[in-house]
Amino acid sequence: MEKDKIYVDGTVGLGGHSEAILEASSPTGILYGFEWNEDSFKLAKERLSKYGSRIKLFNKSFIYIKEELKKQGVLADAILLDLGISSFLLEGSGRGFSFQKDELLDMRMSYTIDLTAKKILNSYTFEELKQVFLKGEVPRAEKFAKFICEKRKREPFETTQDLVKAVKEFYKTSKKDLLAIIFQSLRIEVNQELKNLEVALKELPDILKPSGRIAIISFHSLEDRLVKFAFKGDPRIKVLTKKPIIPSQEEIKRNPRARSAKMRVGERI
Ligand SMILES: C[S@@+](CC[C@H](N)C(=O)[O-])C[C@H]1O[C@@H](n2cnc3c(N)ncnc32)[C@H](O)[C@@H]1O
Repeated sequence: MEKDKIYVDGTVGLGGHSEAILEASSPTGILYGFEWNEDSFKLAKERLSKYGSRIKLFNKSFIYIKEELKKQGVLADAILLDLGISSFLLEGSGRGFSFQKDELLDMRMSYTIDLTAKKILNSYTFEELKQVFLKGEVPRAEKFAKFICEKRKREPFETTQDLVKAVKEFYKTSKKDLLAIIFQSLRIEVNQELKNLEVALKELPDILKPSGRIAIISFHSLEDRLVKFAFKGDPRIKVLTKKPIIPSQEEIKRNPRARSAKMRVGERI
């Protein structure tokens, strides 16, 4: 990694990638980091404080990267988005992301969001709920949406285990992959993840220097498809990854959550 450069990490999380970038670009590389989740932001800020003025952190969604970089009057040499949810959010945030916990059905990455998973399950119309499950590629989406609408008349959904019970009742199984896809579909809706990605794909090439690069790591096909077609159809971008980069078997062994990761890289023309 070259020095004296400007890097952007749009999804800082607990700061793993940010730290690696700051180390590799030492002593002069500058990193602009964005993290939406309040708790992750605080932890990352502490972890990265040793880099002093080389790190500029924003507790904001990555949809504000263009606006912030414009304010600072800089263009980026490289931008990274590592989409979705972190182990910290899943296991330690208490916000109802995991079907293995019993927590309130919240699923907001940031408290700046009004919508929660509980609101979706209890107050979306049948049609809206069906769309959430269809978009999330949930099996038998329409019938499951109908089932939820019936079930909530008897008792509103409160906790993650209420949803797990409903899944078991409807599908007669509680396979982890099925629960994961249903929880993911609600998380995507609460946080408007696909819309955020669309904004980023449209705006981020504008703040790259010529030959600057953008790398996006996605964890499900809905996101990967958006990235693939946006890069392909973007006259500002030369695609550097004809096929997405995927983790090696060895990396998957070390980090099983990486198994579905796909990275695509584009270069500013
Ligand atoms: C897969 S984790 C990233 C982990 C990070 N690369 C690391 O090394 O620790 C994704 C992170 O992106 C954050 N995130 C998701 N959507 C975001 C958005 N629109 N803007 C900013 N951060 C977002 C999540 O809160 C989460 O911490």
